[in-house]
Amino acid sequence: MSEATDGGGESPADGSDGASSLLDRGRQLWRTARSDIIETDDRVAQLETAERQSVERHSIGNRLSHWIQAILFFLLLWTGLAIWTGNYFLLESGIWGGYYVAFGIHMWTGILIVAITFVVFPYYYVLVDKHHQLLEMADIQVSFDIAEAFVGLKKYMPYYHDARRAYDEDEGDWIAHHPMQKTFFWWIAIFIGILALTGFGMYREMATESTWWIDALGFMSGWLALETLKQIHLLLAFITAVMVMFHIYFAVLPSNWDVLRSMVFGDVNAYIVHSEREEPADEQSSDGGPSPAAADGGPTAERKAGGASPGDRDSVRGGERTDE
Ligand code: HEM
Repeated sequence: MSEATDGGGESPADGSDGASSLLDRGRQLWRTARSDIIETDDRVAQLETAERQSVERHSIGNRLSHWIQAILFFLLLWTGLAIWTGNYFLLESGIWGGYYVAFGIHMWTGILIVAITFVVFPYYYVLVDKHHQLLEMADIQVSFDIAEAFVGLKKYMPYYHDARRAYDEDEGDWIAHHPMQKTFFWWIAIFIGILALTGFGMYREMATESTWWIDALGFMSGWLALETLKQIHLLLAFITAVMVMFHIYFAVLPSNWDVLRSMVFGDVNAYIVHSEREEPADEQSSDGGPSPAAADGGPTAERKAGGASPGDRDSVRGGERTDE
């Protein structure tokens, strides 16, 4: 990531005027946030001429945990809806009434989805596959751009679709995600967490013989009435279901089929960009910083995108190239 995206302003050399330096820093941050990402991240400028390679976007652990999470979520929805409506379609089994079957599946899938959502999926998705989920200046820039384009104040960034498929070979990570994707990652975790806690809160109220772990996880029952816990649980279940519906809608749009495919087979045809490309001497300004043209994403920045020839097609796995 280019330095400018960090959004840091210059602090006064003598450090005497703290307030105005803070103000300057604030202004600088605002200017960076409002600037176009192509001006501050030269990897975006490299897209036009970047070579394409097959890169593993989702490792096997990531894919398996994502689809297990999805199956668990649909099981939760189904059994939850059955318990709520009293309609136990396909859940009636022998002497066991539908309620007990639905309740058993609901509780155990709930426990499993918490383990997947908080431990297994983030481990593979974020740590192993480097889909960073913390807020970066680039996300703010892109959010401004998308919001303004949405209300017709500017045109959609032509390179944005490609930026989400751009892999930084030096840092070994993906340079951009849709801001709503990161938001989805966090809200799903937060909502599944609260759903589990309100669920255990209700269970603690209902259980005739409680155990220590149900008492601990059901601590909310000490604060809220059963009805309130149920209302929160239901409301969040609806909100989460709608969020997942949108998630699926965007995943199956034809323009995202390559990414959807990568959630099944792992690989995507990525643009290879570089954050640690050596700056040719003539592109350095006198103070050693990048030349204005490079910072503008102008012709100089475009030239920086050289790299291996497009004919040099091999594949990259986990940041390492392997001949195909
Ligand atoms: C048929 C259902 C689903 C499909 C087709 C689907 C598809 C996808 C795809 C293609 C990605 C990767 C996006 C990328 O590489 O940029 C993804 C990521 C993700 N999925 Fe799903 N998904 C489904 C169900 C679910 C469910 C039920 C949940 C959670 C309860 C979920 C949670 C997530 C999360 C947290 C991410 C990471 C954030 C993101 O990239 O959006 N998905 N999904």
